[in-house]
Amino acid sequence: MHGLVERVEEAARVIRDRSPITPRVGIILGTGLGGLASQIEDRTIIQYTAIPHFPESTVESHAGQLVLGRISGVPVVAMEGRFHFYEGYSMQQVTFPVRVMKALGVDTLIVTNAAGGMNPQYELADVMVIEDHINMMGDNPLRGRNDDRLGPRFPDLCEPYDRKLIALTRQCALELGIPCQKGVFVAVAGPNLETRAEYRMLRGMGADVVGMSTVPEAIVAAHCGLRVLGFSIVTDICLPDALEPVDIQKILAVAATGGDRLSRLIPRVLERLSEAG
Ligand code: HPA
Repeated sequence: MHGLVERVEEAARVIRDRSPITPRVGIILGTGLGGLASQIEDRTIIQYTAIPHFPESTVESHAGQLVLGRISGVPVVAMEGRFHFYEGYSMQQVTFPVRVMKALGVDTLIVTNAAGGMNPQYELADVMVIEDHINMMGDNPLRGRNDDRLGPRFPDLCEPYDRKLIALTRQCALELGIPCQKGVFVAVAGPNLETRAEYRMLRGMGADVVGMSTVPEAIVAAHCGLRVLGFSIVTDICLPDALEPVDIQKILAVAATGGDRLSRLIPRVLERLSEAG
């Protein structure tokens, strides 16, 4: 059994052999938010199954591929389909692609997700840029022996989401006329949606939205020194005292609207990336 560093390097080597792109920005596209991938130019598509050590897909995560190319001239590598903890993957498996992105040369990670809105000011299909997070998943991708070649034993998380990127994003959203909230994301393990009592607790903790992903990837990104920009799309309204049953079809339709907004916003942010140093 190879160590993590060797597995990451093997996966990166196969990707390098398949694409001439040296990506600078990594993008993880959340549920229903894959639209941006179609805007990638000069693209190379690599199925996850062709990449050594990538987790094997479960039934739920069938459409898994890596897309390398350019958006607004910036070389990117995008994950169309992510690995979720609720599918049964370990935290290490969920975050393996982030380590591979880092090995490919990425210095900035953009993560997106569909989330439940608990802040009463939020509306369906709102874009929320993630300012901070709370890990309520009950696990951590850094648990276990630490390899100092990958990052420190006790990584600092005082600012896991880059402040300059947040400011640039909000400016771009304003210019494009896209409503853009800023708030705290709390991650739960899932796969069930929350009870009323849980939404009340999570809101009371200080979270604005809740979802089942993103935090593991953001923790590993911080561990290996990537700047992170995170987005949630509010796909359902989760006010504990006025909660309605969720309809997954409705969530996906709302995600599509939010995804269209991200597909306009992210290219603009990439176009102006140099302004965020
Ligand atoms: N809870 C958790 N995850 C979610 C939700 C939610 O209400 N909506 C979309 N993803």
